[in-house]
Amino acid sequence: LPQLTLALLKPDIVVNPTIRNQILHKIQSHPHSFTIVEQKDILWKLAQAKAFYKAHEGRFFFERLCGFMTSGKFTALILAREDAIHYWRQLIGPTHPCRARVVAPGTLRATYGLTDTRNSFHGSDSDDTAKREIKLFFPDFDIDEWRRNQ
Ligand code: CMP
Repeated sequence: LPQLTLALLKPDIVVNPTIRNQILHKIQSHPHSFTIVEQKDILWKLAQAKAFYKAHEGRFFFERLCGFMTSGKFTALILAREDAIHYWRQLIGPTHPCRARVVAPGTLRATYGLTDTRNSFHGSDSDDTAKREIKLFFPDFDIDEWRRNQ
């Protein structure tokens, strides 16, 4: 059965429509084969960014992270495939692009990531997180109904 995850293409990707479309195409194509179940462009107010990243409040990068995530539109995606949570995180690679280029060349962050903050992508880290993040970005999406229809 397919699993759902919540993915973000961050503002450093969305600012470049050509790159953004390449990525949207790539993640749906062989061998990745994600289905884009829902897609939405979002522009956050600072308070929304601070709420989403509450777990990082107090870290040295918190202000710059929230500043970056409110610097322009980003794209939220609900992605489906077998083992979607794990597979999406594997495809985007480690958080820090410089490290990704060493330990996971070819991953999306290794290819497109700019800095530790402007790392281009996000992926839910567990089933519970995916559920919470899907609800936050797509409040009208009914996960249970989607499951019943698979
Ligand atoms: P993500 O894992 O999607 O969510 C938390 C974000 O915080 C992370 O992506 C980066 O954008 C940012 N971040 C994490 N660690 C650092 C760091 N050491 N320096 C700057 N930004 C960071």
